This record gives sequence, C-alpha cells and structure tokens, in this order.
Amino acid sequence: MIRLVVFDAYGTLFDVHSVGALAESLFPGQGQALSLVWRDKQIEYSRLISLSDPLNPLGSRHYQPFWDITRLALQYACQRLSLELTPAKQKQLMDQYAHLAPFPENLLVLQQLKARGMRCAILSNGSPDMLAAAVSSAGMEGLIDKLLSVDEVRQYKTAPQSYGLVADHYPMDIREVLFVSSNSWDALGATWFGFKSFWVNRQGLPFETLGPRPAHSGALLSDILPLL
Ligand code: LAC
Repeated sequence: MIRLVVFDAYGTLFDVHSVGALAESLFPGQGQALSLVWRDKQIEYSRLISLSDPLNPLGSRHYQPFWDITRLALQYACQRLSLELTPAKQKQLMDQYAHLAPFPENLLVLQQLKARGMRCAILSNGSPDMLAAAVSSAGMEGLIDKLLSVDEVRQYKTAPQSYGLVADHYPMDIREVLFVSSNSWDALGATWFGFKSFWVNRQGLPFETLGPRPAHSGALLSDILPLL
C-alpha cells in the first residue's frame, strides 16, 4: 500500500534536454559531450563532498549547494573539452537549469495522482531556490506537497541522511513510499535505503549491474499509475 510518491527532480520530472540543446547551439558539435561531462562531474562532485565527511551531524564540511557545484562542473567540463566558457555563455547555460520543461506526460500524471488524493513530494540534490524555480517554470505548483532538498542535511544522494529527509518530513513506514527516479543509481540508493523504487527508463538503458533491481520500472512516468 503506497501512501506517498517521492520524485527525483532532474531527468525524472524536469527534462534536461533543453540544456543539451542550448549547449549544442553555443558549442556546435560539442553539445552532447559537454552535457555528459557536465552531468557526470556534477554528480561526482556531489559524491566527493558527501563521502569525504559522511558522519558529521552538521552535514559535510565540504558542502556547497548544488547550484554552485553545477557551475563548477560546467567550468570543468569546458576546460576538459577545450571550450571557451565566457561569462555570458555560463549565465545562459545556468539560467536554462532554472527553466526546464517537464516531460510531456508528467503534468497529467501529477494531476491524476492529486485527483486520487495521493501525496507527492520531490527529493532532490537541487538547492531549494533551483527547485522552486523549476517547479514554477514547469507549471507544477499545487501538485507537489513538499520540495525536499538535501540542502537541509548538507549530504547528497545517496547518503542515507538524504533519503532520511523523507522519513523526517513524513512519519510513516518507509515501505509505504514509492520513490521514482530516472537515474538508475538513485533508484538503487533508494532501494538500499528501504523504499520501494520505480526506475523510469526513458532511454532503454541497462540497469546497474550492482545491487538489487528496483521493485518496478517503466519507460514513462505514466507507468507508475497502475501501481497506485
Ligand atoms: C536530483 C538529481 C540527482 O534531482 O537528478 O537529485
């Protein structure tokens, strides 16, 4: 029996494709490489921060908000690919993160869940202001009960403190939570934490060869509806 659905943000609710498209228009022929290196470095920095001070009750002393590590990762990616990142190009690429479109089926899924009385939340690495801007730009205001940001515990996914935020805000049996992510590593981290997980596999990728498979998966967000 599921009583709460918790969504990952980037790549799950918000389509980051527009960031890649803008990268391609700014750096023709390099947009895809730039998006991949940028995303990998962003996630690598988040893990580096959390793994280097995992047990500090105040959060990692190396913590920097996701907005900042996203910018640092962009700077790294451009250096690595020998692309000149002018302040104007950096601003354009970072601004795009605040104005992401939802995937086409997502609004309808959230509306249907609301109509069924199902509570929905977001748990994301994203800083609170980034998430608020993305939710508003995607027209999801009123459909999400709470925007939970790891900023509150200063530990990034997949640190248990990050998933633990859900339990802090919604006192219930964690097996009553469906955690939905298109990032396979996030679906795995959430499964290890104890949630039932749903992996949205839009790109037909293989699941991680490490660890248990998520309880459910599908190609679209709407594939969660029959479970709820
Ligand atoms: C997030 C990243 C992992 O929203 O997509 O937490």
